[in-house]
Amino acid sequence: MLVTGGTGMIGQYLVRALRERGHTPRVLSRSSGDVQWDLEAGILSDGALDGVDAIVHLAGAGIADKRWTEARKKAIIDSRIRSTEVLEHALRAKRDHTVRSFISASAVGFYGSRGDEVLTEESTAGDDFLAKVAVAWEQAADRMQPLGLRVVKMRIGIVLAREGGALPEMAKTLPLGVAGALGGGKQWYPTVHVEDLAQQFVFALEHPELEGPYHAVGPEPIRQKDLMHTLLDATGRSAVVMPVPEFGLRLALGEMADAVMMSSRCSAEKLEAAGFAFRYPTVSAQLKALYRD
Ligand SMILES: NC(=O)c1ccc[n+]([C@@H]2O[C@H](COP(=O)([O-])OP(=O)(O)OC[C@H]3O[C@@H](n4cnc5c(N)ncnc54)[C@H](OP(=O)(O)O)[C@@H]3O)[C@@H](O)[C@H]2O)c1
Repeated sequence: MLVTGGTGMIGQYLVRALRERGHTPRVLSRSSGDVQWDLEAGILSDGALDGVDAIVHLAGAGIADKRWTEARKKAIIDSRIRSTEVLEHALRAKRDHTVRSFISASAVGFYGSRGDEVLTEESTAGDDFLAKVAVAWEQAADRMQPLGLRVVKMRIGIVLAREGGALPEMAKTLPLGVAGALGGGKQWYPTVHVEDLAQQFVFALEHPELEGPYHAVGPEPIRQKDLMHTLLDATGRSAVVMPVPEFGLRLALGEMADAVMMSSRCSAEKLEAAGFAFRYPTVSAQLKALYRD
């Protein structure tokens, strides 16, 4: 199987998890990895699809790496759509390809910010920037279907890991004795431990009956403010949880404040009903596992 973005944070956990299950993943990368692609030229290196039965597509320019200028927003969308199209064209061109499954990353940002509304995979899409990114990415992934591929869209939530993503940012001020309740902290965060997320992708790969969108999140979402209290408990630190006003976040982050203010009250019910079992089901278990050493 081929993993795009296999060099990234989630990708590295996924590649490790796949190897542990006896699979032989190959990483498709712009510059390192086992096989390469040139997205501007629209080409994969020779033999990149040989013997490949499944593609996991994680690659894309980092959502929160840089301020959302118009140029950055274009890069965030284009990198995901263009890369999916390059894969689609390569599959069309290789008539004897053996790829049967296409497992694409997407995000709970698909729904936009929805307050206390309980969201399922059937809920409608939002219309803010992140929603537009997810919708366009999923539509690009769906274009693999007419080629006879099974398409699964993993709507990833807030991935908890020590190496990157939201957690190190939220934990940054703890040594100063303060924790931020962002914009008041009432928004729902559907957290998932990065190892469980990697296993969710493995599950999607190994279960051919899965098709369509799935929440790649934990069993229970948590309000951001409560997440900070749970984090304090897991780290054994004491800090005051202080409200950070939304206008301050907007001054500091610009439109990217949407990403931290986003409320996505959703769970992994559909994936669990399909048989997925969590190693770290509660937010407390997720955080304690990450901070145990
Ligand atoms: N982490 C989260 O909380 C989270 C939440 C929701 C959704 N997701 C989605 O899940 C995917 C993986 O997340 P991650 O946290 O592992 O991301 P990451 O660490 O930033 O890795 C993404 C990978 O994509 C490739 N990439 C970067 N810029 C690119 C560009 N302009 N064009 C093509 N490829 C590019 C890179 O691989 P090469 O340099 O090897 O080419 C990189 O290793 C992303 O698409 C992300 O949007 C993540």
